[in-house]
Amino acid sequence: MEKALKQDILKLIKENYSIELYDINLTIPPKKEMWDFAFNCGILSRELKKNPNLIASEILPLLKTISEITDVSSEGAFVNIKVSKDIFTKKFFELYNLDFSSQFSYIWNGKKIIVDYIWANVWKPLHIGHMCTPNIGQAMINIYKKFGYDVISDSHIGDWGIIFGKLITAYKLWWDENKLKENAVDYLLELYVKITSEIENDSDLEQKTRDEFKLLSEWNPESIELWSKFTKYSIEAMNKNLARLNVKPDYNIGESFYEWLWLPKMEDFPDLVFDMHSIVVELISKWIATQNEDGSVWVIFENDKLPSCILQKRDWTHGYLASDLACIKYRTSNWTPEKIVYFVDVRQQLHFKQAFEIAKNAWWLIPHSVSPKGREVATELFHAFNWFISWKEWAFSTRKWNIIKLWDLLDEAEIRAKKIILEKRDDLDKKELNELSKIIWIWAIKYGHLKKSRETDMIFDWDEFMTFEWNSGPYIQYAYVRALRIIENFWENFDMKVNSIFESLEEIELVKQLWSYREVLVDTFNKNMPHILCKYAYDLTKTFNSFYNAVHILNEDDFEKKILRLKMVKLFTITLKDAFSILGIEMPNKM
Ligand code: ARG
Repeated sequence: MEKALKQDILKLIKENYSIELYDINLTIPPKKEMWDFAFNCGILSRELKKNPNLIASEILPLLKTISEITDVSSEGAFVNIKVSKDIFTKKFFELYNLDFSSQFSYIWNGKKIIVDYIWANVWKPLHIGHMCTPNIGQAMINIYKKFGYDVISDSHIGDWGIIFGKLITAYKLWWDENKLKENAVDYLLELYVKITSEIENDSDLEQKTRDEFKLLSEWNPESIELWSKFTKYSIEAMNKNLARLNVKPDYNIGESFYEWLWLPKMEDFPDLVFDMHSIVVELISKWIATQNEDGSVWVIFENDKLPSCILQKRDWTHGYLASDLACIKYRTSNWTPEKIVYFVDVRQQLHFKQAFEIAKNAWWLIPHSVSPKGREVATELFHAFNWFISWKEWAFSTRKWNIIKLWDLLDEAEIRAKKIILEKRDDLDKKELNELSKIIWIWAIKYGHLKKSRETDMIFDWDEFMTFEWNSGPYIQYAYVRALRIIENFWENFDMKVNSIFESLEEIELVKQLWSYREVLVDTFNKNMPHILCKYAYDLTKTFNSFYNAVHILNEDDFEKKILRLKMVKLFTITLKDAFSILGIEMPNKM
């Protein structure tokens, strides 16, 4: 709605002042019960070199010629605008008749985005820190899909390194097949902790772990079998955790894949053509990397743009950077994506800057389309970094090895949810209580985390997350269920045509909010920041609550008005549910 109005105002400015502005910032005026929009004439004053207050009063009669505008006034450099009331009702019906599932998909049909997220390692259980990238990444995947992208998601799981020498040694020493099957990741961590402490006073043992890693690298069948077992069980355990958060990557193509070892594949994805070594050779031939006398290979950036980095060590082994480079080449050459977005924490910023710069210089970013201006557009690489979660209450019953495991955290959430529900409701049977607490905890924790910008640190705080009082999952959930209750007996009347219009401030506010949903989705998409969508859901809920308190709905005497308002309630529930399905959070039907 604002967009259409903006267009009209920009056109008017162009015609009368011969200035071509690209945008004008329409704000909500302080006296919002009197005016719908406002804008500052400062921007015009700069262009025209004229007093903004003067422009504001001069432009009023011009604005009145726009058919939608019913009244205008100026206050200093500001212009206030009132638009005709029936516009809001018209706009409302435009929205009401839209098909939510398909309204965006035509835009990017078929283009690809690759998402790199989750940040997991085979030998380490998911922990509280894994609230970050899986949740943010999955929300963004859902939104890319809504925009019609074909999304390929991959965890780039850490499944290689000397650590596997340690794990194999430990496993052989303290072999326990059942424990491995039961809970692979926990058991692997236990083995890791145990062997690490024993190695401290036993240099023979340390040598043994190196030998085991060498055997694995040289394709010793027994070592490969153990590696596969560890990895397979560990990925299964990880997916069980992630399923509780509605997160599911398509692939878990591990770092080892780029070693060209032909280790067994855990899923079906294209084979590797360029391994790390061939990439190093290619970069040397392109004068991007240089080999030292000792055999190590380095990249030194032109004009010291970035700190130099090592690609290949003296002993010809490769590290994390080479694996990410091979991975970029693999992804671009197999899938020609429009973008690859990495949801990985902020500590890896330099790593990705270096990797992206090298990939660009090596021409691995293949053009996937031609822009309207005839320019070829190549794959964009983007690091959507996140900061960290810290823990408010350190006492946590099952905390071991300094890790708060995700699984235990979610269990704890469920227990707490039950307590909170029981305070409000004593009429639920056991089954209902279980179901409800499941939906509430997933909301509370996921929402509590997602509402914070990924560019700030956050504190995990039960009291803040699990409440019905303020910006929390349960608060929004409660408003949703209340809205469902209002409309549930009126479905048959929803097709009825009505001639009433929205008049009260609260109704109009709610229409404005519902209308801005599209812009919010675009903004969330452009910035890769789901907290923008969370803020919207909260604002929408608050606006709905004011509407609910201000107007009669079910006991409105005027039947047409009543139906119109019920339609509004319905659109509110649909929009909120849609927003939350993008965030990867389910909605309850009862509470
Ligand atoms: N496994 C890596 C780690 O533990 C994270 C992977 C992130 N993705 C990537 N393409 N580097 O740090």
